[in-house]
Amino acid sequence: MEISKLIRKPEFPRSSGYGQDWMMDNQMGPNAVWLTEWLLEVLDLKAGMRVLDLGCGRAMTSIFLARESGVQVWAADLWITPDHNWQRVLEAGVGDLVFPLRSEAHALPFAEGFFDAVVSIDAYQYFGTDVLYLAYLSRFLRPGGMLGVVMPALMQPIDDVIPEHLVRPKPMAKCSGRMGVGAS
Ligand SMILES: C[S@@+](CC[C@H](N)C(=O)[O-])C[C@H]1O[C@@H](n2cnc3c(N)ncnc32)[C@H](O)[C@@H]1O
Repeated sequence: MEISKLIRKPEFPRSSGYGQDWMMDNQMGPNAVWLTEWLLEVLDLKAGMRVLDLGCGRAMTSIFLARESGVQVWAADLWITPDHNWQRVLEAGVGDLVFPLRSEAHALPFAEGFFDAVVSIDAYQYFGTDVLYLAYLSRFLRPGGMLGVVMPALMQPIDDVIPEHLVRPKPMAKCSGRMGVGAS
């Protein structure tokens, strides 16, 4: 099936307003724009709120949150350089709302109670598995602040045979330096 038919889904009407190539070029796993649209159904974000997008990757999720909800987003990531994320942010026209930075999830450079919401799309599983981590992260939320985490999973159970495309090795993305620093 054509990619354009796969990528436009009636259950994700807001995502359909975003470029197919943009989504494909910047994806790092499942469609993060869909996952963010899904999250917005349950997260009551209001324009002007301060949001941390932790493990934002190529900042598609941060851009989507800023454009769709008018929130200010601190787009924090370890592997992806903020320089390239800033270019994506500018191209998307949300330079006044999205602030990219490189940050390690266990050493966040923010004041306690700074954020109205913390979101993490397809990323929490990389750094949040320690039992103490949630308490650490929560301290950056104001009292009554919101935490929204989306982790990918299968839409349908796999019966007997694992589909061929799931067992096929994926080519590694090109990156340079330790831990992929310099990746885009
Ligand atoms: C699968 S990618 C998802 C990126 C993005 N949220 C998306 O859905 O497109 C996971 C992201 O988690 C980030 N990450 C992994 N470990 C991290 C850590 N310890 N601190 C901050 N970010 C981390 C990586 O840099 C990577 O960009």
